[in-house]
Amino acid sequence: MKTTITSEQAHYCEASARVLLGDGFFRVDSRPARDYGVILLRWLAQKRQGMPVAVLDGLAGCGIRSVRYGLEAGATELVVNDADPQRLALLDHNLAALSQCAGVHWQASSGTIQKLLASFVLQEKHFDLVDLDAFGAATDLLPSALGAVRLGGIFYLASSDGRSFTGHDRPAALRRLGAAVRAQPCSWELALRLQMGAVARAAWAMGHGVQPLLCFSEGRTFRSAVQLTRRPAAAEEALLGLQAYCHRCGNHWGTSLLAWKSLGICSNCGAEPVTSGPLWRGPLQNTTVLKAALELEQKAGLNSLSPPALKQLQRLINDGAEQPEAFALADLARQLRGDMPPLKDLLKALVAAGWQAAASGIQAMQFRTDAPWAEVLRLAR
Ligand SMILES: C[S@@+](CC[C@H](N)C(=O)[O-])C[C@H]1O[C@@H](n2cnc3c(N)ncnc32)[C@H](O)[C@@H]1O
Ligand SMILES: [Zn+2]
Repeated sequence: MKTTITSEQAHYCEASARVLLGDGFFRVDSRPARDYGVILLRWLAQKRQGMPVAVLDGLAGCGIRSVRYGLEAGATELVVNDADPQRLALLDHNLAALSQCAGVHWQASSGTIQKLLASFVLQEKHFDLVDLDAFGAATDLLPSALGAVRLGGIFYLASSDGRSFTGHDRPAALRRLGAAVRAQPCSWELALRLQMGAVARAAWAMGHGVQPLLCFSEGRTFRSAVQLTRRPAAAEEALLGLQAYCHRCGNHWGTSLLAWKSLGICSNCGAEPVTSGPLWRGPLQNTTVLKAALELEQKAGLNSLSPPALKQLQRLINDGAEQPEAFALADLARQLRGDMPPLKDLLKALVAAGWQAAASGIQAMQFRTDAPWAEVLRLAR
């Protein structure tokens, strides 16, 4: 059945985009994910200093991201694809908005992303941004997707396979991530670190390296943006590791796989932990890049960041997640057999005692500290 597009249909507006949504999948509340793609591409386009900026929007839905990449972020060439053939007329309709921008070329298609990526590998075609807003876990696409990213370009990946990534379907996690995954309270952090670990391993296998730019979740979808580098940075491999969680007392700890002999027993209560990994133990955010992207956003005056996206970005800038373990206030409350202590007071007490401590930017009511868990418990008491 052919989709009929008429200009009388109701449009949806988001930042500079005014698009028809059609009948397929679209979430208004995924706007922060689209906003961040825009500000990261704008940051990269500025670094390319007038050179062409090519984007592959591989699972484009109605094409709203591509419209915004062209209107707000400086994309000059867009390949916009969605496997649903019903979407092609809609994509053509929505992308016509780009005809007002001189020098912006776009092409819509309705193939599978698997075929499209394979064709780019054969053509040796590279993009400044490869955006895969996938359903489920797209780990099968990692080698060909990274193969389509220009060195120094950005790979922006979404996975919505929460059950595997948070350890609620352990056999599926093993199949999709090649990792052991055990459910625990800091589940968004765990899922993002597993996803980053899978991306890093795929890049390393190709001889390249990765620099995480931005990782975040709202609990349903796990999103990571990384910059592909020619080679791994010094000791980048040491950032792949394992994480232990003590179900009895809420302690977390971990190790690099390079240093791994044993994760031992819990230093606080002596119980055996559960172990997850391999996962990424490096920073999850590049706060320098995020600050630069935010500055450019303020200069551009295009309102690409919605208020919730701005608020969340500020939280991520305040927590680069260099410390690979986060702790949950709920675990602390369980140990204290009482109410959750106010996070602000706990962080203040930890800092006053000479430890580093900050709220997690990834998930509310969680925090990072270099203090041993026994010390956190002592101070909270
Ligand atoms: C999460 S939605 C995309 C939403 C869109 N990026 C946005 O921001 O509104 C995922 C899209 O992938 C498409 N899709 C599913 N499997 C695909 C495949 N193998 N290749 C290409 N597109 C696919 C679906 O038709 C769907 O529109
Ligand atoms: Zn313990």
